[in-house]
Amino acid sequence: MRKASEKRIMEFVSILRDASASGYVSGQVLARKARVSRSAVWKQIRTLRAYGYEITSAHGLGYRMVSETTAPVPWLLRKLLKTDFVGKDIVYRRFADSTQTIALKIAENCPKANGTVVIAEQQKSGRGRLKRTWISPPGGLWFSVLLRPNVPTTGITVLPLVAALAVRSAIAEATGLSLSLKWPNDIMISGKKVAGILLDISAEAEAVNFMVVGIGINVNFEARTISPNLESQQRVTSLSDELGRDVSRLELLALILNRLESYLESFERGGPDEMIREWKSHSDMLGKRVSVLHNNRVTYEGIARDVGVDGSLIIASDSGKRIMVTSGDLRIRY
Ligand code: BTN
Repeated sequence: MRKASEKRIMEFVSILRDASASGYVSGQVLARKARVSRSAVWKQIRTLRAYGYEITSAHGLGYRMVSETTAPVPWLLRKLLKTDFVGKDIVYRRFADSTQTIALKIAENCPKANGTVVIAEQQKSGRGRLKRTWISPPGGLWFSVLLRPNVPTTGITVLPLVAALAVRSAIAEATGLSLSLKWPNDIMISGKKVAGILLDISAEAEAVNFMVVGIGINVNFEARTISPNLESQQRVTSLSDELGRDVSRLELLALILNRLESYLESFERGGPDEMIREWKSHSDMLGKRVSVLHNNRVTYEGIARDVGVDGSLIIASDSGKRIMVTSGDLRIRY
């Protein structure tokens, strides 16, 4: 969305908000105040409703704005960001194939872009880890962040854990729910997945060139509507299922972006040790029996012992071997 049309929307919202304070406002008055035609007023009202603003209309009286939107629209998101670079550019789409694909194109075409956030209300071909599809209905938070972190290539394998820390801490603050991390970067509530992270990284021999962090969070919809299709066979939940109420996706996204920038900066400054320590403190899988799967087939089994300084999962196999796992899907036996 272009900045000019954002500005028009913000101006119209402000006129409607002020006028709604004393009741209904007619289309004619709105048209005069906004200096547009009556049909343009009607179109703006329709647009705002699509963006999640609650606007009632009454025959002969006009329109009244009942509540503001809690959708992650760029003009409101910008106001909540405390970042230096994350979210300075925001691409917002009601529909997209995949925000990840859009962000990857920006990364390749705009060498200076850093911190660009791409958000979609719905994705048609959302991508998950291990080439899975990611079902992305309305009510979720589906977004990708383009970053050019100043970390050596040895830090690449820790980046998924850093992203997971930021998402976990923001969801915990926004909801008060008790969340745990499952290696490498799933966010879980009582053994059910509520959010997943996908990282596409481009690196040279020495350093990371760019990465696109794709984050999918089941926020305000019933998880049972997507679970039968989940290729990973994992149990899933959503924040609204857990809380019994909806969560402001706008506020949650702002928190995540704020945290993402600060965790990334701590990692750039302090290296992996503190990140790994914090990651382990939020995971309940160490000491548990786990199976590692590749293409849905178990490749290793054993007890999850530790997370290495490179972000790998260290497993003690039944024969006593120490195995370092760097990729795959994990099943935990509780
Ligand atoms: C996983 O498999 O756990 C990772 C899921 C990542 C999904 C997000 S939704 C936003 C972004 N766009 C995509 O196509 N995928 C990621």
